[in-house]
Amino acid sequence: MGRVFFRPPFLILFAAWVVVTSKFVARTCASQDSLQLPMNPIENSAAKKLAEMGVADASRVAALFAEVRERFDAAAGGACDESSWKAFRDAWLGRKSGVLTLITDNWLKPASPELKRAVGAGLNELRAHVEAKIEERRAAIEARADETAAARDRVDLSLPGVIRPIGSRHLIRQVFEEIEDIFVSIGFSVVEGPEIETPYYNFEALNIPEGHPVRDDMDTFYLELPKGAASPLLLRTHTSPVQIRTMEKRQPPVRVIVPGKVYRRDNPDATHSFMFHQIEGLAVDADITFCDFTGTIEYFVKEFFGAGVKTRFRPSYFPFTEPSVEFDASCPFCGGTGTTAAATCGKCKGAGWIELFGAGMVDPAVYGFVNYDAKKVSGFAFGIGIDRLAMLKYGIDDIQVFFQNDVRFLRQFP
Ligand code: FA5
Repeated sequence: MGRVFFRPPFLILFAAWVVVTSKFVARTCASQDSLQLPMNPIENSAAKKLAEMGVADASRVAALFAEVRERFDAAAGGACDESSWKAFRDAWLGRKSGVLTLITDNWLKPASPELKRAVGAGLNELRAHVEAKIEERRAAIEARADETAAARDRVDLSLPGVIRPIGSRHLIRQVFEEIEDIFVSIGFSVVEGPEIETPYYNFEALNIPEGHPVRDDMDTFYLELPKGAASPLLLRTHTSPVQIRTMEKRQPPVRVIVPGKVYRRDNPDATHSFMFHQIEGLAVDADITFCDFTGTIEYFVKEFFGAGVKTRFRPSYFPFTEPSVEFDASCPFCGGTGTTAAATCGKCKGAGWIELFGAGMVDPAVYGFVNYDAKKVSGFAFGIGIDRLAMLKYGIDDIQVFFQNDVRFLRQFP
């Protein structure tokens, strides 16, 4: 260590530097707001020319760089989070007034030819050290941030779970499933078909040609299509088109049920909706009789409503069944008497019977549309209105409540 280093002005300067830098070293990230960078004393020395500090030989230059490096190392630990690291980096490597820039400007550039080499070497070494250390600090801070984030995000599997209310299946869905289970248990399978249909499947192939009066009862919504579209498209008015689609694809024996949504241009009231639900049934085989049909339907009704419900068939008309029937059940609200509390039952309007659905033996004309041989096969079909069936079973007097999503209603059917 050269004598010059200990000359009083430099000692004072160095003492000040030690005081301030030790403050920085002692600081923690918790006191980041009060961050004091150690640069002023260093800047002070770095801002002075070597000659001013009385440094005149190479060994003094080396000692001077060693001191700077020592202070740098001591202060580096204080760069313990992103913002203090940035401040620290700028203080040392900042282009305009970083310590290394000051040393370049004040020590290196004006150095005498004898000292230039030593200053250059010392500066290069110091720069390499500072850059490496600052990069090391950055990596450490980043790694610690990753660790903290991982710890924060770690799932504690021992904590009790958050119970979220998940709602329940809509009553219509529950009724669908109930009916599906009954029919699947006697050998039917479940198929589905499109809600957007062509008039061919919805009407013509079901023996309802254009102009047929039945079309009036099944007025529906047509889709707006670009000019020149191959066929008009409509929202299906019943699930019966899936009879045709199924028979086109399968050869007898066929036993299917078809749950789904259907649409009609019906004005909404307590028993009508413009969108409602049906389940179609179709059984076609070599020798299916009317007895198979009534037996199947009666079995279903007893399973669904219970043994106490009486059933009856009434003659009806559908272009795609022959003979056609309406199937009624005894009114569950008045026990089939037609009266409640000495007044006429409002649900069956005093009849004691409630219409459940239309059905019949498949009209041989329909087989012609699906290339079945009407002489070799026979079958029955039915189309149940699910919404009305659910109303009957669960005592609901307005179909509209199914579609209003009022949780006070929905919660009654968990
Ligand atoms: C048909 O839809 C026939 N496809 C049923 C059928 C299938 C007959 C197979 C023969 C063979 P209908 O138009 O009657 O038939 O409707 C069947 C059921 O749908 C009705 O009994 C009723 O429960 C229900 N329904 C009809 N229109 C509405 C409506 N606007 N809102 C709610 N339910 C309705």
